[in-house]
Amino acid sequence: MSNIPSKAATGNFSEVLGQYCVRNIELADEGRKLIDWAEANMPVLMGLRKKYSETKPFAGYTIAGCLHVTKETAVLIKTLRDAGADVLWSGCNPLSTSDAVAAALAADGIKIYAWYNNKEDFYWCIERTIDGKPHLTLDDGCDLIDTVHEKYKELATQHIVGGSEETTTGVSRLRARELAGQLLYPVFAVNDAETKWDFDNVYGTGQSTIDGIIRATSVMLAGKNFVVAGHGHCGSGVAKRAKGMGSNTIITEVKATAALKGYLEGHTVMTMEDAAKVGDIFCTATGVKDVIRKEHFEVMKDGAIVCNTGHYDAEINIPELEEIAVSKRTIRANCEEYTMKDGRKIYLLAQGRLINLAAAEGHPSEVMDMSFANQFMAHLNLVTMHKSGDPIPVKVITPDPAQDEYVAETKLAMMNMKIDKLTPEQIIYMNDYNAGT
Ligand code: ADE
Repeated sequence: MSNIPSKAATGNFSEVLGQYCVRNIELADEGRKLIDWAEANMPVLMGLRKKYSETKPFAGYTIAGCLHVTKETAVLIKTLRDAGADVLWSGCNPLSTSDAVAAALAADGIKIYAWYNNKEDFYWCIERTIDGKPHLTLDDGCDLIDTVHEKYKELATQHIVGGSEETTTGVSRLRARELAGQLLYPVFAVNDAETKWDFDNVYGTGQSTIDGIIRATSVMLAGKNFVVAGHGHCGSGVAKRAKGMGSNTIITEVKATAALKGYLEGHTVMTMEDAAKVGDIFCTATGVKDVIRKEHFEVMKDGAIVCNTGHYDAEINIPELEEIAVSKRTIRANCEEYTMKDGRKIYLLAQGRLINLAAAEGHPSEVMDMSFANQFMAHLNLVTMHKSGDPIPVKVITPDPAQDEYVAETKLAMMNMKIDKLTPEQIIYMNDYNAGT
């Protein structure tokens, strides 16, 4: 490990070469308390931890993860570790790491390379996890998978068993790679599990995005024109919650069916060209670049607030905002004020990065419980297939719906909720093609 460049020499870090590099290891106690909180609210994942820390199915396997370093992610990391894996980790967004959680993980022996605001060293951190020669990769946004595919082809083809991807944007990037014939190992699309996209994307993004906007501004949502760009699962969650807080919600879309669903949910549908003139708060959730750009900034009202909750910071064209602004100042953490030539002010939150993780704490533990149970099981499937000796097809793999049933049933049971069972007669009726009027 002596060839690893030292960060401690370049700035203000806590570092043990080949072991970890975090902002401040003395934050470990603070981080441990946050992780305790998450553990108390993630019963499905904790159940998996209890079960598999006895059998240790990941013994002998190294996992590199690239996913937001939050208290919830810490519960996933510790579960993988207790199930036998050697785990290395980096954050998947420059602004989403909790330094306290990173410190707690480092102090607990996890090889972690992550700190808040690591834009310049983002790929440096990822590469330190690849130094550990992972058998498995676990991504949120595909930056680890992409780095392995572009710079470590031999590792990808000779050593890596498989991987998983957490998020909508990452899965679409992954499918593009598969379509181009450029995918080098099998990857589970965790986002495609119903107990992920139908809960995390909707209720998680809905709540944490509103949380981030409020923490960055303290703005009152009631009575405001709240524009959500994109009415997919994430955008629909944000619009639903903004409406619940009393905003007049406006949807912009490029997909007719999604726009229609938004309309029937009670939102007004407009083009961004029209919405730009009336919106008070704008939030992008599209996975597409340049959704809000120069011509939109030029007609926005004085005081408009603009933010993004999609994975990448490309949805708001910030270079164009900088180009037309005459000055800029920081109002508070995650809130920059841009003044236009005509005196109007536009407020950009969290540098256009995902507001829910940059300004708040991401989705609540209760919903990440299900997403991360799916992550754990994706990796369990990969090692089970690998141990069986049968080749695993190199493709993007959709999780088995039986896994969703397990996650949902366990979640309900942990909350002491019971549901009905079909009677034998009902099952016969359901399967009878002749049972008409
Ligand atoms: N993505 C959204 N919320 C998250 C959280 N709390 N932890 C990890 N990844 C997330």
